[in-house]
Amino acid sequence: MCGIVGYIGKKEVVPILINGLKRLEYRGYDSAGVAVLTGNGAHSKRVLGRVAGLEDALQGNGWQTATIGIAHTRWATHGKPSEANAHPHTDCKGNIWVAHNGIVENYQELKKALIEAGHEFKSETDTEVLAHLIEAETEKTDNLFNAVRHALSHVRGAYGLAVISATEPDKIIAARNSSPLILGIGPEENLVASDASAIINLTKEVIYLDDNEIAEVTADSFRVESLEFGPHGSEKRVKHPETIEWDEAAIAKDGHAHFMHKEIFEIPEVIRNSIRGRLIVEEGRAKLGGIENHKDELRDVERVLITACGTAHVAGRVAEYMLEEYAGVPTEVDIASEFRYRKPIFGKNDLLLAISQSGETADTLAAVKEAKEKGVTTMGIVNVVGSSISRDTDFGVYNHAGPEISVASTKAFVSQLIVSSLFTLFLGRQREMSLTMGKRIAEELKQLPELVKVVLQQEDAIKAIAAKYKDMPAIMTLGRKYNAPLAAEVAIKFKELCYIPAIDLPAGEMKHGSLALIDKDFPTLAIAPVDSVYEKMKSNIEEIKARVGPIIALTTEGNDELSQYASDVIYIPKTLEMLTPIVAVVPLYLLTYHIAALKGHDIDKPRNLAKSVTVE
Ligand code: AGP
Repeated sequence: MCGIVGYIGKKEVVPILINGLKRLEYRGYDSAGVAVLTGNGAHSKRVLGRVAGLEDALQGNGWQTATIGIAHTRWATHGKPSEANAHPHTDCKGNIWVAHNGIVENYQELKKALIEAGHEFKSETDTEVLAHLIEAETEKTDNLFNAVRHALSHVRGAYGLAVISATEPDKIIAARNSSPLILGIGPEENLVASDASAIINLTKEVIYLDDNEIAEVTADSFRVESLEFGPHGSEKRVKHPETIEWDEAAIAKDGHAHFMHKEIFEIPEVIRNSIRGRLIVEEGRAKLGGIENHKDELRDVERVLITACGTAHVAGRVAEYMLEEYAGVPTEVDIASEFRYRKPIFGKNDLLLAISQSGETADTLAAVKEAKEKGVTTMGIVNVVGSSISRDTDFGVYNHAGPEISVASTKAFVSQLIVSSLFTLFLGRQREMSLTMGKRIAEELKQLPELVKVVLQQEDAIKAIAAKYKDMPAIMTLGRKYNAPLAAEVAIKFKELCYIPAIDLPAGEMKHGSLALIDKDFPTLAIAPVDSVYEKMKSNIEEIKARVGPIIALTTEGNDELSQYASDVIYIPKTLEMLTPIVAVVPLYLLTYHIAALKGHDIDKPRNLAKSVTVE
């Protein structure tokens, strides 16, 4: 996912831009660049590769006097990763510079018309079209703000955009449509960024631009207007800064070798933060601020349709079991990239529940828009405050898991399960769930941070298991009921971190094909806590043992019988069946983390992947 940072104020801009880009590296990228304005015009430097390489290339640039600039990390969509395709992009005269997140869907036709009008292009990107469009508009209008607005009226697609111009060196123009963009408001300086982590060191006061908004930012002021003209021309938008809840420490490694390791060890605190102020134990119910005003609407819900991608989709699969078993609400789960293209038949009392850590996943966002088109009530479980999905859904619940930097989602997944448990409690107590059961769930939720801390103490033992399996050619992961989705989550981690092919299955499916894979070189991870389907899992484990397949088993502490089948056993403390995945996933995250570490992989930025998939 690309990153944008812009600054205008009194400080030397280059170090601010480089530091901002370094804070955006976690999003995944392949090239980077900056553009700044000094007394003698615009200057730019772009590189293929890491921000550190850009920083080196900027040494001795003589741009110390520059106090306004924009910068970008690019994850290639149109045009291969290269210096020429890196942002920011410029117009024919090198005056206007543009950093852009998103896609200009109609860029070919626009580029053709611009070339016919005499514009010369230097890159293969869709973004460069924007610079030339704005240039063409400056010949027709009196200022950059209006030129950007008119240029964007020709554009179809998604954008988060920052623009500077040597002919108007006292402002940055920012615009947003479907790709997140915020303004950072500081004393005698202002910023533009694609996410708050780029600027949190300079200000915690931010303004979230909404879709179809354009802003003009100077060193000591900002104004926001609607992009499109209404009946009375453009509409001024009144925006009040919001204070970011977290601080710089949240995006530092704090001595951990990787953000993923830090985020795994944050899980006990994340559980506390996800629960804080939301459990009324004596009444056995959940109080969720974001949906309290929609109680009656939610009481009438007759079906929940959950949609998400990747790990968030797995959280939705766990939520399906919870909502049906404990809230008695019919629930379906669908991968968002499939949901948006099939023809879902909605009922009048359906609720679409979108789960997303980033709140920017394109397929999940599109699924929400599709449901809203059909008049379906939409709810979000989202981690990033002010993100597109959190703003597009009718209401929702924030995770409060803090920034998740590592591409591999861990603490956010656990928080998604916690919030799903709270939502289950919320709906269940509106329906048939008894006070006793509600109190039991609430009490168990409160115990979870301590149970996870017990599991985290097993790290050395898990590291030893990782060393045994780090070179395995592939693995099968099995679970049943609440742990069938968990098998899928661990398989995602084996693939995205360890680059090991992993096949996840609801264990009952094994006999329908995959059992043929088992042999002495094909290990199985069997998630088998002592629960309502334990005996079935044990039978599956015996079937694998009979075919000499190596087994790593996970079960409840005190249950010693699996050690006769499994070469390695991981034990977890007992909790409610519906909460087991929250505890069981933690040692499995450590297992995949340590295998990836032993293989020397770039754990926080796995190859080919990005933290948030904002394109289809
Ligand atoms: C999980 O480790 C992956 N990084 C990926 O599957 C991720 O969960 C998925 O892209 C969804 O992201 P979201 O939660 O931000 O929507």
